[in-house]
Amino acid sequence: MAKVLSNKSLADNIYFLKVSFKETINVKPGQFFNLKVCRDESYDPLLRRPLSVFDFDLDNNEVSFIYEIKGRGTRALSNYIKGDFLDIHGPLGNGFTVDFNNKKLILAGGGMGIAPLYFLAKYIGVNNDLTLCLGAANKGVLKPLVDYFANIVVELKLSTDDGSFGSQGTISCLLNNSSLGKEVEYDYLFGCGPKPMLEWLQSWMREEGISGEFSLEERMACGNGLCLSCSCKTTDGNKRLCKEGPVLPADEVIINGL
Ligand SMILES: Cc1cc2nc3c(=O)[nH]c(=O)nc-3n(C[C@H](O)[C@H](O)[C@H](O)COP(=O)(O)OP(=O)(O)OC[C@H]3O[C@@H](n4cnc5c(N)ncnc54)[C@H](O)[C@@H]3O)c2cc1C
Ligand code: FES
Repeated sequence: MAKVLSNKSLADNIYFLKVSFKETINVKPGQFFNLKVCRDESYDPLLRRPLSVFDFDLDNNEVSFIYEIKGRGTRALSNYIKGDFLDIHGPLGNGFTVDFNNKKLILAGGGMGIAPLYFLAKYIGVNNDLTLCLGAANKGVLKPLVDYFANIVVELKLSTDDGSFGSQGTISCLLNNSSLGKEVEYDYLFGCGPKPMLEWLQSWMREEGISGEFSLEERMACGNGLCLSCSCKTTDGNKRLCKEGPVLPADEVIINGL
């Protein structure tokens, strides 16, 4: 069980949730928790909802999430208030590769795919040069997320579909219109976001010869490797995103099989 410290709206349908655990926990960037969002007296919705770790405070055993209300599960979650208790499983999944030193790294996030990149940026930003390319539909969604990155030393490149914040277009315009992959040699890319974005990134990375990994999303049920509902096709066979993922090598993922 975790105690809700804060569950506040950041923008239309976007929430920041912070919980604290009594027991000592250790969390790696890119891992996720499976949250039981129904109240004790009801079983609706029955299945837990997975959310990536946005931030982790080791000293206080506190974990933060940023989530968008998509349906009844996330709507139910938005009704929790400070002092409530949440039944949370985790941390789950493999997490990002974090053993980099003095490397030039790109972190590319689209929409709620930005959420797992904050903890990652804090973690690997200490020893590496980071360029963050973040995109979302509009300023209302992107600005509250980007504000968190202000206290980390990173190069930030922003885009919105409607041009209301940063460049107009998708993340592809940030990678194409800049020095990325041209004068600067990048070592590795971390990507998280909608399928079309990952599809574009995968072919761009192949063209530029940049390796990396993607954090992927699938509908999940058990969250512990038993039901196979989160299976994802890869060139190395099917992988369960809750166990072998959610982070997989970018080149192995068969995106149109997601
Ligand atoms: C490993 C992992 C980490 C995630 N991290 C985050 C996060 O940090 N922040 C965040 O906002 N969301 C995240 N998600 C997505 C989140 O789990 C879903 O949006 C949520 O479960 C939807 O539940 P719901 O009951 O509100 O919507 P539902 O009523 O179940 O569905 C509403 C709509 O959302 C779509 N949907 C539901 N689940 C998913 C999913 N897993 N992926 C894509 N579309 C889905 C459905 O197809 C439907 O169109 C993550 C998903 C995974 C698998
Ligand atoms: S959610 Fe059941 S195997 Fe992954």
